[in-house]
Amino acid sequence: MHVKNPYRPILTSIRKITVENEAKDLKTFQLAFCNDEEANGFHFQCGQFAELTVFGIGECPIGIASAPTDDGILEFTVKRYPDGQVTNALHNCRVDDRIGVRGPLGNSFPIERMEGKNAVIIGGGFAFTTLRSTIRYILHESNRSRFGNLTVIYGARSPGELLYKDELKEWESRADMETHITVDKADENWKGREGFVPTVLEQVAPSPKDAIALVCGPPIMLKYTLPVLDKLGFKPSDVVTSLEMRMKCGIGLCGRCNIGSKYVCIDGPVFTYEELRSLPAEM
Ligand SMILES: Cc1cc2nc3c(=O)[nH]c(=O)nc-3n(C[C@H](O)[C@H](O)[C@H](O)COP(=O)(O)OP(=O)(O)OC[C@H]3O[C@@H](n4cnc5c(N)ncnc54)[C@H](O)[C@@H]3O)c2cc1C
Ligand code: FES
Repeated sequence: MHVKNPYRPILTSIRKITVENEAKDLKTFQLAFCNDEEANGFHFQCGQFAELTVFGIGECPIGIASAPTDDGILEFTVKRYPDGQVTNALHNCRVDDRIGVRGPLGNSFPIERMEGKNAVIIGGGFAFTTLRSTIRYILHESNRSRFGNLTVIYGARSPGELLYKDELKEWESRADMETHITVDKADENWKGREGFVPTVLEQVAPSPKDAIALVCGPPIMLKYTLPVLDKLGFKPSDVVTSLEMRMKCGIGLCGRCNIGSKYVCIDGPVFTYEELRSLPAEM
């Protein structure tokens, strides 16, 4: 009997690299599978992640930024840490270089629960990646009618730090969604909103009726966004986020990522706020 080795990465090659921001420390890697059989066997859901391997250096967990409806390609948006081993090595890669992908890993956003409901998607900074996957999925022509209103609020520190700029423009022009893009600090060319994500959320005030909110961003954004959602009437069970703990194995074996009895790599990274409230305060 053939037993699949969970530590063995799938071989992919880099098809395209997009520098996303002015600081040039955020790049989106578009990967193509090297083997058709492995491509056909790789099924993921919005919110899942994979361990990306730079051969000879190591691996690190990165959320899947493309949508399950994007046939045959996988995208990951990676922030380079100045002292980060793997993220630096990834940023040094070129088109056609080989990258390993181990996954898909973790649980996903509650897409089935969201069907027939309104989706409120709130993101800040580069934690927007798996939310982008979800938006692409909902907007796909085969899915759009299965979801209600789609409201997106997304913010970055400055205009140059916004991810997926072309896509944001396209979303803003669509009639079947509401898109609110904001920056903490505008520059002379910025014609859009200026203000923090929680403030914009308060102004937009999406209804909590039949709605599920997905929220991903830096801790400071989450800290101020959750009380606004609470004030608007969203129940903790209808507010969902994704955690970025330090991880190693990604498959529930090494004990690196646990919070109380939960392993973020297999029980998460996606949790509702109701679930998070029941976990110890170590996160
Ligand atoms: C489920 C999940 C999804 C993620 N998705 C993305 C993504 O889409 N895009 C992305 O850019 N990053 C993402 N991350 C974070 C990413 O995994 C880390 O940035 C990466 O592991 C750093 O690896 P490195 O080898 O470059 O850094 P290391 O050499 O391991 O560390 C370099 C420096 O970064 C710090 N650091 C590294 N990882 C973390 C962390 N998780 N929390 C706090 N400090 C850290 C270290 O303390 C150190 O200072 C995700 C993490 C998880 C768990
Ligand atoms: S990373 Fe090993 S148990 Fe979660």
